[in-house]
Amino acid sequence: MVWRYAALVGLALLAPTLLVAHAVTAQNSSAGNASKGREVFLRYCSGCHGDDGRGEAKTFRPNVGNLAVKQLMDELSDEYLFTVIQKGGAAVGKNAAMPAWSAQLRDDEIRDVVAFVRTLSRR
Ligand code: HEC
Repeated sequence: MVWRYAALVGLALLAPTLLVAHAVTAQNSSAGNASKGREVFLRYCSGCHGDDGRGEAKTFRPNVGNLAVKQLMDELSDEYLFTVIQKGGAAVGKNAAMPAWSAQLRDDEIRDVVAFVRTLSRR
C-alpha cells in the first residue's frame, strides 16, 4: 500500500516534466529515438535489466533475460519487443516478473525504448 502511494506521488511529480520533454520532441514520428529511449530505460528498466541490459543490476535481480545477446535479440521482432514492454511478460507467455508499462509509457516512449534496447546488442 505504502509503495503504491509513493509511486502515485512520484508519477504526479514526474508527469509535468515528461509532458514538457514530449512537447519539445513531438515531431518524432514512428521510428524510436534511442537516446530518448536510453533515459526511459535507465529510469524504469535498469533496476532489473542493468544499465547495459545484461541483467546484472545490483539493486533487484529477478531472472531477467540478457538483452545484449545479439543471437537472442535478432530473433525478436520490434512488434514483439513493443508488446512485451507494453503488456508485460505474462502477455507473451513469459515471466510475469517483467511488468507491463502501458500505464507509465506512451507508445512513442515504448518505441524509443525498443530502439535503445536494439543498441544493447550492437556494442
Ligand atoms: C521488476 C523487474 C523488471 C523491470 C523493472 C523490467 N523488466 Fe524487462 N524483464 C524482466 C524479467 C524477469 C524478464 C524475463 C522474462 C522471461 O524471460 O520470462 C524480462 C524480459 C524483458 C525483455 C525480453 C523478453 C523476451 O522475450 O526475451 C525485454 C525486451 C524487456 N524485459 C524490456 C524491459 C524494458 C524496456 C523495461 C523498462 C520499461 C523493463 N524490461 C523493465 C523484469 C523486469
